[in-house]
Amino acid sequence: MKAPKKGIKWETLGFGFSDVNCHIRFTWKNGKWSKPRFVKEPEITMHIGASCLHYGQECFEGIKAFRQKNGKIVIFRPDENAKRMYRTAERTCMPPVPVDMFVDACKAVVKRNSEFVPPYGTGGSMYLRPLLIGTGPQIGVAPAAEYTFMIMVMPVGAYYKGGLKPVRAVIFDDWDRAAPNGMGDVKVGGNYAASLYAHEKAKHAGWPVELYLDAKTHKYVEEFATSNFAGISKSGSYVTPDSKSVLPSVTNMSIKQVAEDLGIKVECRPVPFTEIRRFEAVAALGTAVVITPVYEITRADKVIKISDPDVVHPVLQKLYDTVQGIQYGTIKDTHNWCFEVK
Ligand code: COI
Repeated sequence: MKAPKKGIKWETLGFGFSDVNCHIRFTWKNGKWSKPRFVKEPEITMHIGASCLHYGQECFEGIKAFRQKNGKIVIFRPDENAKRMYRTAERTCMPPVPVDMFVDACKAVVKRNSEFVPPYGTGGSMYLRPLLIGTGPQIGVAPAAEYTFMIMVMPVGAYYKGGLKPVRAVIFDDWDRAAPNGMGDVKVGGNYAASLYAHEKAKHAGWPVELYLDAKTHKYVEEFATSNFAGISKSGSYVTPDSKSVLPSVTNMSIKQVAEDLGIKVECRPVPFTEIRRFEAVAALGTAVVITPVYEITRADKVIKISDPDVVHPVLQKLYDTVQGIQYGTIKDTHNWCFEVK
């Protein structure tokens, strides 16, 4: 593996695109996947009738790779993202990428770009964005006959400026994210497209993130636009919504396990909106946001104050430190979540 590239300001990296050496690309034609190609240019040429452009036949993933204290480069749980993309591909009538092919592709593309994995101690990581899209022309509504699977990578810093710094959130009752039997539980771009309008409204009014309630009754908490939801109850439980229209987050899955390992009770169940005010702490959880505390939530003219904006709840801090410790190799990886790139 290469040492970090000189001349990059690692400490001030944000969450955005930057050029690296290459991405990895496969095509699916006549019922099978091609061999991988490493492509230098970040642009992609496709048919004007590609099904991803017209009918949204596409899905993606978000994964992180870390440079650990001992110098090793590891990818965090790519097998879980592979399984989730497999389910998403089936739901959107695309050829699933076999789990081994997906994991090998993650390792290969990180290896080819290893000098862009941020140095240990800077708080940065390499973000992997696997993408599966219908690239064959399809004018009647039907699945395409050709597909492209790619993984782009880039070094990133915190999604919300300030790392573990608490943020405020908003609930809008005018816009929903996912229908009860829709596609909220798989990672399609359409779920994010559905949130963009509300997201822009929220951002311009000073809320970095919006929280969605269940689309049918607006009585239960679902998830944030970019990530899952969890609350810490007065009795110290880690409470996270159980809903068919929430994306099963790999970060949340990992934090639930870490919580259990630490002896914290995990409750995965419907979470009524009215319960929010009783939580001692609330957090957004995802690959990009890691654990981001949320100190207040606004709905219409009411503001629910949850916690002190300048203080991180000790349970959240412990969960954050433990997950990051496993990722950066300072805490033993007892569940074998880190896949080394050799
Ligand atoms: C991730 O957390 O990796 C995601 O894909 C969410 C995205 C909104 C940044």
